Amino acid sequence: MEHNIQRLLDEIKSFSTVKPDELEQFRIKYLGKNGILNNLFEEFKAQPPQQKQMLGKLLNSLKQTASEKYNDLKNNIDIAGKQETKPLDLTLNATNGAYGARHPMSIIRKEIIEIFSRIGFTVADGPEIEDDWHNFTALNFQPDHPAREMQDTFFIEQNPDIVLRTHTSSVQVRLMQTQKPPLRVIMPGRVYRNEAISSRAHCFFNQVEGLYIDKNVSFADLKQTLLYFSKEMFGSDTKIRLRPSYFPFTEPSAEMDISCSLCGGKGCSMCKKTGWVEILGCGMVDPNVLENCNIDSKVYTGYAFGMGIERITNLKFTVKDLRLFSENDIRFLKQFKNNI
Ligand code: DAH
Repeated sequence: MEHNIQRLLDEIKSFSTVKPDELEQFRIKYLGKNGILNNLFEEFKAQPPQQKQMLGKLLNSLKQTASEKYNDLKNNIDIAGKQETKPLDLTLNATNGAYGARHPMSIIRKEIIEIFSRIGFTVADGPEIEDDWHNFTALNFQPDHPAREMQDTFFIEQNPDIVLRTHTSSVQVRLMQTQKPPLRVIMPGRVYRNEAISSRAHCFFNQVEGLYIDKNVSFADLKQTLLYFSKEMFGSDTKIRLRPSYFPFTEPSAEMDISCSLCGGKGCSMCKKTGWVEILGCGMVDPNVLENCNIDSKVYTGYAFGMGIERITNLKFTVKDLRLFSENDIRFLKQFKNNI
């Protein structure tokens, strides 16, 4: 039996074919149900015990050699078969990738940047993980301001506090600390607040901050800039109105409404029948903030504003549910293909 196995081993090793039917014959002959290997295993059972260990080893290696030979040859034949039916045609056009569309908020962010760059604003960004100084203290937030509390702010570390920035106003501080006026910059970016997620609120959203610091900057400059922006963004009929408000980092502060871009001010569900929609907060940079950033508030004045990109995008595209912006649903995104 030993001699027989050795002979079969040589026979199998030297076998080669490129023909599928010959390979099938090989399989049946050696590995099939009534093939040589199964017969040898039957024969093995009747061998004297002292020979079994050696013969068992030989038989197993024969089986392994036959299986490997079969698999190798089959692989070669499969590959060759594929090449035969689909020859490589180097003259074909490249296959088209699946193109997505620019995200609606990217479209709007780009438009906002374009509008402000036409009147001399540059673009800056800052870190999303901020320290307390940049996010709150330098911006004149009092130690007990509610925005600092756990329910509004995501704290990464406490004492000293490191937070996910709650607004892009922190970038104002970074700019004023590192650059000398005049400054005329917009700062788009993502911000985080600990809010329950619904169709109207999310734990993260996007803002664009604006800052203009120079000699003799007045509230009139702020108002005119915002009117220019609103008309460029929503159409030349757009009206604005400023309502007094409060922010720790601006004095005086205001919130700005635009005449509803959907109903033209007549009143609809978007503007809750008022004809006006709030789109941003703004004001004259508080002298304390300038001084915190080593800018002489007797020489320089400035204005700042901050708006939510989601809100502007909603007004332009009437997206009813905020969650759609971050769900990455291709059916939603595809609808903006033509707005690029
Ligand atoms: N940071 C404010 C917020 O997140 C928005 C804001 C209001 C920014 C007034 C400003 C501003 O620059 O002057 O709600």
